[in-house]
Amino acid sequence: MHDLFDLSGKSAVVTGSGRGIGKGIATLLAEAGANVVCAARSADQIESVAAAINASDAPGRAIAKVTDVSSADAMSALAARAAEEFGRLDIWVNNAGGSLVSAPIVELDPEEWERTLAVNLSSVFHGVRAAVKQMGEGGSIVNTSSMAGRDPFPGSGHYSAAKAGVNMLTKTLALELGEKRIRVNAILPGFVPTDTVKKALDMTDADFGPLLEQLNLPAGRLGTPRDIAACVLYLVGDSGEWVTGQCLTVAGTV
Ligand code: NAI
Repeated sequence: MHDLFDLSGKSAVVTGSGRGIGKGIATLLAEAGANVVCAARSADQIESVAAAINASDAPGRAIAKVTDVSSADAMSALAARAAEEFGRLDIWVNNAGGSLVSAPIVELDPEEWERTLAVNLSSVFHGVRAAVKQMGEGGSIVNTSSMAGRDPFPGSGHYSAAKAGVNMLTKTLALELGEKRIRVNAILPGFVPTDTVKKALDMTDADFGPLLEQLNLPAGRLGTPRDIAACVLYLVGDSGEWVTGQCLTVAGTV
């Protein structure tokens, strides 16, 4: 691993790392040398991700902590656990999120509106406040936003509004946390067919060909969790030392 991407001796928290993109991020950060706390709601999933990291050749170690990201107290406990286990906290990835509901805003159930904002936007607010308390001087925060936070899509106004909020929080935090030498960036993934996405859209792998043709991506293929993880690694490593407040689209297209 080149020095620019070497995370040896650092400690990281990745929320929503029980599966999908978060699992890819936690795995790659451990491969780069970071000790990682895998956090999500499902104990089974995060324990199996942490066990797979610990059984692999990755130099970083992993532990699991069940956490509901919409709870401020749970996020404080998560940050404290990371600092207690690994003696420091350097990297925090607010990745948990998503919405399985598609509905025009005027027909959207108000409870779904509240849930979407809690899991996608308030989670970042709680996460950053908890992380900064443990980080002290220096650190890197990455928020998983979405292209939906940049471009409107009918039926996903609740999700788009939450992710657009994440983008603005990212920029504001970058300015506010500069004096502590904490960098804050967001990644806006394009379409990454994780199991959740496939289930929500009732898709199988056989549907990918026609979808790819329809999307006409310049990169010529759909995304993978590792594509997003690679960008996180760039942002949190020394490679990203002069990058803060950015909302980086990683989508195989513009
Ligand atoms: P996923 O559904 O595969 O994984 C989400 C993870 O978050 C799971 O481990 C789940 O347990 C956890 N999670 C959900 N709600 C939680 C809560 N309240 N507390 C703690 N953990 C919770 O999702 P996927 O596809 O990997 O997406 C990850 C992130 O990337 C999300 O923020 C999503 O909005 C974003 N994204 C995904 C895209 C895609 O095409 N897959 C595209 C753009 C953005």
